[in-house]
Amino acid sequence: MKEYAMKAVLSLLILLTYAPPRSYSQPQRRVNMTLVRNAPLIGAYCLDGSLPAYHWDRGFGAGARNWLLQFEGGGWCNDIKSCLERASTRRGSTRYMSKVEIFSGILSNNAALNPDFYNWNRVKLRYCDGASFAGDSKFDNGTSLLYFRGQRIWQAIILDLLPKGLGQARKALLSGCSAGGLATFLHCDNFTSYLPENASVKCLSDAGFFLDARDISMNHSMRYFYKSVASLQGVANNLNKNCTSSLFPELCFFPQYSLPYIKTPFFILNSAYDVFQFHHTLVPPAADPNGHWYHCKFNPADCNAIQIQTLQGFRRYMLETLKPFFVNSTRGGMFINSCFAHCQSELQETWLAPNSPRVNNKTISRAIGDWYFGRSISKEIDCPYPCDNTCHNLIGKQVIQV
Ligand SMILES: *[C@@H]1O[C@H](CO)[C@@H](O)[C@H](O)[C@H]1NC(C)=O
Ligand SMILES: *[C@@H]1O[C@H](CO)[C@@H](O)[C@H](O)[C@H]1NC(C)=O
Ligand SMILES: *[C@@H]1O[C@H](CO)[C@@H](O)[C@H](O)[C@H]1NC(C)=O
Ligand SMILES: *[C@@H]1O[C@H](CO)[C@@H](O)[C@H](O)[C@H]1NC(C)=O
Ligand SMILES: *[C@@H]1O[C@H](CO)[C@@H](O)[C@H](O)[C@H]1NC(C)=O
Ligand SMILES: *[C@@H]1O[C@H](CO)[C@@H](O)[C@H](O)[C@H]1NC(C)=O
Ligand SMILES: *[C@@H]1O[C@H](CO)[C@@H](O)[C@H](O)[C@H]1NC(C)=O
Ligand SMILES: *[C@@H]1O[C@H](CO)[C@@H](O)[C@H](O)[C@H]1NC(C)=O
Repeated sequence: MKEYAMKAVLSLLILLTYAPPRSYSQPQRRVNMTLVRNAPLIGAYCLDGSLPAYHWDRGFGAGARNWLLQFEGGGWCNDIKSCLERASTRRGSTRYMSKVEIFSGILSNNAALNPDFYNWNRVKLRYCDGASFAGDSKFDNGTSLLYFRGQRIWQAIILDLLPKGLGQARKALLSGCSAGGLATFLHCDNFTSYLPENASVKCLSDAGFFLDARDISMNHSMRYFYKSVASLQGVANNLNKNCTSSLFPELCFFPQYSLPYIKTPFFILNSAYDVFQFHHTLVPPAADPNGHWYHCKFNPADCNAIQIQTLQGFRRYMLETLKPFFVNSTRGGMFINSCFAHCQSELQETWLAPNSPRVNNKTISRAIGDWYFGRSISKEIDCPYPCDNTCHNLIGKQVIQV
């Protein structure tokens, strides 16, 4: 378990499998990259030493003073070898990134496709540190140099945006998907601290609720993995202090342990069968050396009864872990559906479309909008697989070749 790039694989697959309906494929919003020129002043660099970056689409009309920030995702690197590899790709260097990003789903500027946030300032924070924007360290042995400066990148981007209007925000939402969804948990209260006291600030994690679960061989492989990310990249000092003072610090990288300490209103969007967690937390390749899960992993319809039971156990653990939040968080929201998916807010097909996933007849876009604007309580929990016929369980066997 070294380098995770599932999100790219899945997005590609989605593109291959589901062409969006015609009305939803109008001209796409393309947004240029802005490099953070002042980042070196605070030592903020991507893994390879390149400048960090974001993409900003300016708000307009009634949304001109509202801000949505979205952390890009893309797995983690946990040793020198995997981080060196990453440093020469778009996951570790702005040099190799696309300089133009397409803004869709929650980032769309089209009222029909994104009714609650379309006219906000929308910013995508590019991910190039490999530790969910939370490391602060450096590796330099004379021949190889790696910057582990995610925390400083976070700060550099915020400092760059504050004078551009973020500092006078009336409403703000910090979001992110996958490793970026995890970053949302880690930086939520810090985000609030930069904004006006009377601003309405909330946070949303999409597919970032990574569980401290055992895999099918009863190993805590995800815990080992996060521990190695945290120690390599110097993450511990940047985690919630209240959490790290009561638990092994690296455990606080897991949202389930840091969530109780987050004060800002939070929304958790996740699939109970999140494909990344299924493939890497529950059934990492090392725990299935004989490939018994091979077919089930790539098509839930091919899972046998025992495998389905194991998946239901994972779902139960997720719901159990979320129970205190579900029961006691008065300002929190959630949408835990039963689709085999990973990241559902960035793609138009899952965010808001005629056939996008729903729970209790609510789309994801609607549930999050209702929660953000206090229109109604949104704590949606789907029935277990395979009951939900709004899912696009779009894991096909072709994913293996992608
Ligand atoms: C984006 O960058 C391209 C190429 O540098 C430039 O031609 C275009 O005007 C830019 N668009 C905006 C909105 O700044
Ligand atoms: C520095 O680390 C890299 C990567 O681990 C290794 O290939 C290289 O030999 C090391 N250089 C020295 C001087 O130890
Ligand atoms: C927010 O994080 C920055 C580092 O990124 C730190 O300097 C600052 O003190 C933090 N603010 C709060 C209120 O914790
Ligand atoms: C917050 O307070 C400032 C200064 O008093 C005011 O200009 C602004 O409109 C207020 N914002 C909100 C969202 O009420
Ligand atoms: C548990 O998982 C970790 C991380 O993948 C691995 O290094 C370790 O060898 C595994 N332990 C066992 C007993 O399989
Ligand atoms: C975290 O600890 C500080 C200082 O002990 C305390 O003031 C604060 O209320 C705690 N926060 C939470 C969410 O428990
Ligand atoms: C909710 O909070 C109350 C009071 O702190 C606590 O007794 C109860 O156990 C909590 N419920 C859950 C499900 O955590
Ligand atoms: C579900 O919501 C749609 C609008 O999004 C509405 O037209 C439809 O009547 C609703 N169905 C039920 C069963 O409530």
